[in-house]
Amino acid sequence: MTIQNSPLRSVVLGVGSYLPAKTLTNDDLARIVDTSDDWIFQRTGIRQRHIAAEGETTSMLGEKAARAALAAAGLVPDDIDLIIVGTSTPDWTFPSTATQIQAALDIAHGAAFDLQAVCSGFVYAVATAEKFLRSGSHKRALVIGAETFSRIIDWEDRTTCVLFGDGAGAMILEARPSTGSMDERGILTTHLRSDGRHRAKLHVDGGPSATQTVGHLRMEGKEVFKFAVGKVTDVVDDAFAATGITPEQLNWFVPHQANRRIIDMSAQKLGIAPEKVVATVHLHGNTSAASVPLALSVAVADGRIKEGDLVMLEAVGGGFTWGSALIRW
Ligand code: UT7
Repeated sequence: MTIQNSPLRSVVLGVGSYLPAKTLTNDDLARIVDTSDDWIFQRTGIRQRHIAAEGETTSMLGEKAARAALAAAGLVPDDIDLIIVGTSTPDWTFPSTATQIQAALDIAHGAAFDLQAVCSGFVYAVATAEKFLRSGSHKRALVIGAETFSRIIDWEDRTTCVLFGDGAGAMILEARPSTGSMDERGILTTHLRSDGRHRAKLHVDGGPSATQTVGHLRMEGKEVFKFAVGKVTDVVDDAFAATGITPEQLNWFVPHQANRRIIDMSAQKLGIAPEKVVATVHLHGNTSAASVPLALSVAVADGRIKEGDLVMLEAVGGGFTWGSALIRW
């Protein structure tokens, strides 16, 4: 089977990541709120998360991840003409975190913008970059997921503060000619969805227009859990249907890292074997838009994901938003 309505395809040239130096373990959290390592690990699979230092912003994390991805791709910043940053924790209300990273990388050409789809932000950004590259308007995209959720957490709310962490991951994509074969490297298909009726289940209770404050993350955990396991697998099934690729053919499933139970139940529902699942939630916690590229970076660095592999990305986040991207690595 081939899919092609354009002779260009977006090929992954490299990935990179960055985590703040400070880690916060479950035992550390048990000294702040009424919780325990046992409760957190059993319910979520999380053991630790990284927390940005005072003054260390989302764009600083994103810049470091971008430099790591550029090094992996053998490129210099000037080779990039499109930067898209998935983030819900921008340095400032404006200008965008993407333009701050563009400036830090000393890039003075091309376009840079933020994309806000909460935990689906990286998958949305990959899908968006892929459409730009496939149109021929841009040549090489730097796609970043970067977050400092520690800044919007209510550190007195044990139902949310144990779940999240800070970090950044980046991917370089390049437009290359394609015959449309499923065997050729590059992004094969992407599928995005959203349903804005679910705001109350996962939101931040502040914002420049509504309250003139930054606000704190609020979540109805059980409701989000049900939605994440029950609904979002449709975009992965859409990717299989669009390409004719089966779960058996897939090499790696790299889902959003929010909760180990959600990851395992989703894989099981999709018929994806447990050994194909990349899980890093025990190390990073939920880093929102950074979680998928952080997991990708780990699996590339340790040699699991190799050129030619079929890799399925999937994420779900506030809104709700959700999406998938199927890549021939
Ligand atoms: O990126 C997408 C965003 N988020 C997610 O994907 C998260 C989705 N939801 C979840 O992962 C789970 O719902 C949680 C991990 C948040 C919660 O797990 P749960 O199994 O749904 O627990 P629960 O909310 O039903 O709480 C069970 C009990 C409650 O006590 P009672 O009412 O049974 O006495 C909570 O008060 O656990 C209590 N609890 C805690 N206990 C110790 C809630 N948080 C904690 C805590 N430590 N940190």
